[in-house]
Amino acid sequence: MNCSLSAASLATRPVGLLAVGVAEGEAQRGSPAARLDAATRGALKALRAAGDFTGKSGETALLYPNGVRAKRVLVIGLGAGHNADDRALYLAAATAARRARELGAGTLALALPVPSDDSWRAIGEGLVLGHQRHTAYLSNGGKAALKRALLLAPRPPGAAAREALAAGVTRGEAVGLARELANTPGQDLPPAALAERAREIARRVRAKATVYDVAAMERLGMGCVLAVGRGSPHPPRFIELVREASVAKKQARVPTVVVIGKGVTFDTGGVSLKPREGMSKMKYDMSGAAAVIGLFASLDALELPFRLVGLIPSAENVTGGRAIKPGDVVRAMDGTTIEVTNTDAEGRLLLADALVYARRWKPDAVVDLATLTGAISIALGRQAAGLFTRDETLAAELHRAGEETGERLWRMPLWSDFLAEMRSDTADLVNSNERREGASCTAAAFLAHFAGTLPWAHLDIASTAWNYGDRPDCSRGPNAFGVRLLVRWLERRATAAR
Ligand code: BES
Ligand code: MN
Ligand code: ZN
Repeated sequence: MNCSLSAASLATRPVGLLAVGVAEGEAQRGSPAARLDAATRGALKALRAAGDFTGKSGETALLYPNGVRAKRVLVIGLGAGHNADDRALYLAAATAARRARELGAGTLALALPVPSDDSWRAIGEGLVLGHQRHTAYLSNGGKAALKRALLLAPRPPGAAAREALAAGVTRGEAVGLARELANTPGQDLPPAALAERAREIARRVRAKATVYDVAAMERLGMGCVLAVGRGSPHPPRFIELVREASVAKKQARVPTVVVIGKGVTFDTGGVSLKPREGMSKMKYDMSGAAAVIGLFASLDALELPFRLVGLIPSAENVTGGRAIKPGDVVRAMDGTTIEVTNTDAEGRLLLADALVYARRWKPDAVVDLATLTGAISIALGRQAAGLFTRDETLAAELHRAGEETGERLWRMPLWSDFLAEMRSDTADLVNSNERREGASCTAAAFLAHFAGTLPWAHLDIASTAWNYGDRPDCSRGPNAFGVRLLVRWLERRATAAR
């Protein structure tokens, strides 16, 4: 999006939509709300007096007042307190962009009370994400995109404001890219194509991409990834992205953080076929992978004093003459043998090899994201992703990051008793004990076996990675859950490490 920042007056721009952020209560002197009232001789005051608008967070009203050159004015509630926090500004910017697109406004001017230069980051991010749509498969291209967004600053913006805004836009676009990937039908994003997209992003942010094909995975002993991908004419891939520390570090040893994403480009369940209802959703079974790629795409706007490694085991899980069958035994990269009792429990197989591979990096932290179990939605509904870890520091860091970005995590148990439920009579482990009770916990315990002593956390995002209704910052469908959370988590870790 073409997006510019200036200290122009809100009355003078002939835009399709002027959006103004308004806090609850009396308008503060000099605030956008007060300036709107001054220009329109009290249009906002009248709206309030009628009881039609209070400024509560999420509230909006459309006006057609005299005194401004905009075709229409949208007032957006920012909630209580005259200094809106970054989350309120993020949501307001998203709301403005969303409505501007719905109205076919063409151009948008946005006036928000901006407390600090840093806040422009949240605004840039919100603007891009409110505007983002998946239009690739629409013959009419969807509702018209905004041609221009003009951000009205309370004072002449300096370099810090412009940089923060640019960083916000970059991050918003990274989330948009992750949504785009998760939205893409399985037909158009088999593992090799996913790997190509990852490579392209890596090139852009100066990360190194390595893509292991079937022969390379055979040499590495990745029996699990190979087994999941065996039924498909589109062979599996194992993708590794590495970005070295981007800021000078004092310590001799550069720490490494590994992020792993489940990359099932389509999940039919395999021979243990899924029921037909809602199966089309399974194009998003690579949402964990999309989050990892989205994180890498935001690296230009993120300075890290540590090495970041992204790992994506990717396969298409289908039926066919070559597909693994229930009862088959596969061997993971660490030698563990697994009886595949259910070919639909494929995610944990992919992650098993990825976790073993991750040990090579001697990482200081490992986080995996996976649309791993339907059962996590039974446990948590649609309001939180499951957080499984035995590492209290990681738990606190990730939980906090999620609260800050609005991507809630809820702690789930990782008792070894769950692993005891996963013993096989034939092999070391089963991949499914064929019980519905605690299915997210037994899945996590299975992963814990392969994580070994790594400082590791698992996020089961099957409950949250799909939006069932439009939100200001995201339309219905895959939402790239985790990208913003990971960015925030790493940002905080980077600050702590300095
Ligand atoms: N990708 C699914 C999990 C899933 C289900 C994500 C629904 C989003 C919505 C995963 O591969 C799967 O099929 N899990 C099984 C595990 C079971 C066989 C132990 C499940 O949840 O049913
Ligand atoms: Mn499955
Ligand atoms: Zn799956």
